Amino acid sequence: MKKGLFITLEGPDGSGKTTQAKRLKAYLETKGREVVLTREPGGTGLAETLRSLALSPEITMSKRVESLLHVAARADHVDKVIRPALEAGKVVICDRFSDSTLIYQGILGGMDLDELERLSLFGSKGLSPDVTFLIDGNPRVLLSRREARGVTDKFEAQGLLFQEKIRQGYLTLLDRYPERMILIDGEGTPDSVTDALIKKVEKFL
Ligand code: TYD
Repeated sequence: MKKGLFITLEGPDGSGKTTQAKRLKAYLETKGREVVLTREPGGTGLAETLRSLALSPEITMSKRVESLLHVAARADHVDKVIRPALEAGKVVICDRFSDSTLIYQGILGGMDLDELERLSLFGSKGLSPDVTFLIDGNPRVLLSRREARGVTDKFEAQGLLFQEKIRQGYLTLLDRYPERMILIDGEGTPDSVTDALIKKVEKFL
């Protein structure tokens, strides 16, 4: 029986998810909760190995194979880290989860969303997040914020059009999963985003 709280953070590359995940963890700890912060693909030795295969620019693979690698990584992560932590009553914050598969392999990669959803649920043995925070922002705004900080990375390299597709894809998922997905405006300062997250998370504590 699951007793903890399973939170996932999603959003385009560069939306600040990773920073916000750390801040949310720190906040929940001040409330006396035990928090496990983790990420996908990854979170176990095997899943990290699968991550390096799935994300390697040197290895070519079909979207079907890529989907299976992400879902296999998820299965190991859920079995070894996420489910045990939830059963122990902890809060799990996961930086990306099944929605990333639906976006990157599904909406961008052309794989069927219903099939991917079934596959991902097979991998997670039916586990879905209790709440998913979608950190959303106009890619142009996110990019200028990064440039101001002197960060130039794959976000820029992939181009604004690609980032816009990711954003639109996430907004489609928001319609698909209105009961668990919450939109967070990611264009403000990091502090304002953290405040928004905290306000929303209180309801789940
Ligand atoms: P990472 O560098 O961690 O990206 P970010 O910092 O933006 O979270 O790389 C994770 C990449 O993996 C990201 O581009 C999305 C991709 N991904 C998938 O394609 N499918 C998946 O199921 C998951 C979880 C991630």
